[in-house]
Parts: sequence; C-alpha cells; structure tokens
Amino acid sequence: MSGGGEAVEYHSKDFEWDQLRQEIETDPSLRYHLLPLHVNDDDDDDAHSNGKSSPCSKSLSGSSSSPSHDSEAWNHFHARHSTGKFFKERRYLLKEFPELLSFKEYAKVLEVGCGNGSTVLPILRGKESISVYSCDCCHEALKRAQEMIDAADLVKTKQRFHPFLCDFSISGFPKWLACDPCREGILQKKDMLLSGLYDMTMLRFEPDKKVGFREYIRPDGTRSYFFCLDTVRDLFVHAGFNELELEYCCVKSVNRQKGKSMKRVWVHGKFQKSM
Ligand SMILES: C[S@@+](CC[C@H](N)C(=O)[O-])C[C@H]1O[C@@H](n2cnc3c(N)ncnc32)[C@H](O)[C@@H]1O
Repeated sequence: MSGGGEAVEYHSKDFEWDQLRQEIETDPSLRYHLLPLHVNDDDDDDAHSNGKSSPCSKSLSGSSSSPSHDSEAWNHFHARHSTGKFFKERRYLLKEFPELLSFKEYAKVLEVGCGNGSTVLPILRGKESISVYSCDCCHEALKRAQEMIDAADLVKTKQRFHPFLCDFSISGFPKWLACDPCREGILQKKDMLLSGLYDMTMLRFEPDKKVGFREYIRPDGTRSYFFCLDTVRDLFVHAGFNELELEYCCVKSVNRQKGKSMKRVWVHGKFQKSM
C-alpha cells in the first residue's frame, strides 16, 4: 500500500506492529505521544508503558473542539486543494477488502468522510453493481468528489453515486438512510480502514499539536485521531456489532525520490450486526 496511488504489489504485513510499538514506547523523544493531555511526564506512572500496560487500554477521549469549527476547517482544506492535486485514488482498498468485488448482486456501500472521492472512485470502477452512499461534513468535499466521479465517466454514475452532507458527530445518519428498504446492505456490515496507532503521520506531530489523547491538530485546523484495536472494538461492540476481523495493517511505503521508508499503520476491521 502506498500513500494513495496504485500498489503494484500489495502487502499488508510488511512489519510487526508489536515490534513498532516497542520501538516507539521505549524512545524517550516520543514519550509525549503516550501521555494523556495535560499530564506531566513526572506525574504519570500509569502512562509510562513498560509493555504491560499498553496505552491502548485508555478509552477514546475527544478534545473539546466544536463540530462546526471542525467542518469549517475541512471546508477550507478542500477549497484550498480544489485542483485535485491531493486526489490519490485508493485502489489498494479493493485488495484490502476483496469481497467488494465478489458481490454477485446489487450491493450498497456507505462511506463516512468521503473527502474528494479518492475511495469512492475505485469502488465504483471496480464493480458495476455497487452503489456508494458517500457523506462528508463539508460542501466543498462533496463538490470535489462529484467532479472527480463525473470526470471518470463511469457506467450509470447517477444511479450509483449518492453524495450527501452529514456531520455524523452532530446528527448521526439521516433517517432516509436507515429507512431505505435495502438498509441491511448498508448498515449490517462494516468494513473499515482507519488511521492506526503509531502510524508515521502520528509520530510526526510535535508536542504542541496534541489536542487530546491520540488526537492532533494541523496548522490548518483539521484534526487526526489514531485508533488502536481496543478502541475500535469497544465502539463497535457497544453498538451491537460482532467482530469478524480486526488487526493492524502495517505497510512500508518507500519514497524513492527522498530515499525514505515510511511505516504506515491502519486498522483493518470487519464487523457484522444481525438485524
Ligand atoms: C482525511 S479525509 C479522508 C477522505 C477519503 N475518505 C480518503 O480516504 O481519501 C477525512 C474527511 O472526513 C471528513 N469529516 C471529518 N469529520 C467528519 C464528520 N464528523 N462527519 C462527516 N465527515 C467528516 C472531512 O471533511 C474529510 O473530507
């Protein structure tokens, strides 16, 4: 898996996550990543990981920003990057979730936070019988996604691509989505790829960019949260889902120009709910 483009050869286990964890948690210069917000190094016995008490056991604790402020930051981000320069089609998703290609009949997929469409496009392209319902909390992102899909000139795009505005942290999903007669197809099964704990983009954040436990803010006001397996499991099990697969996907991505190797970490999860 690369930063976004096509993976010529796909591996999802280039290194062991436990080995990475050990390296990070014993490196004093990275210690601030392990601590809860507003805890001094000296006071914090609990957060000091000795390999027995992993910081994974701490629960997801959000920072105190307002959702409208967050959407505004994403709106500015997408308005600034309107040229599609940041658009990197995520073709590896079909390799990570090959069942997307194996649906025999009509299937519906829901994407939360679709951005400029880099995930939707390969899914629509990969299988003509799939429809994607894509939400984002900002207009600009949905506009960009629509432009990308239109430019790709896919079969039956109008019937297969359904963008809608939704900030799920405020409103949850709209009723029409849950009332759709085919809702089982959308809400019954969840496959996901989330930013994972100790991904190299997390380790790049400086201490002053930390705004919550495992939550960081970029200079433009957009935020990133990095998930561990326990947090994802807790969220889904509490919402009534059964775990089918849950693991770290660890990929070495090489920037040949700079001669640098980057350790990327995602959480790969599949959950199912019986209706
Ligand atoms: C990092 S981008 C990911 C885009 C795309 N899924 C991809 O893989 O390239 C995150 C997107 O999530 C959207 N987002 C952030 N918070 C959201 C929320 N609470 N509800 C809906 N969308 C949200 C942002 O506007 C942004 O477009």
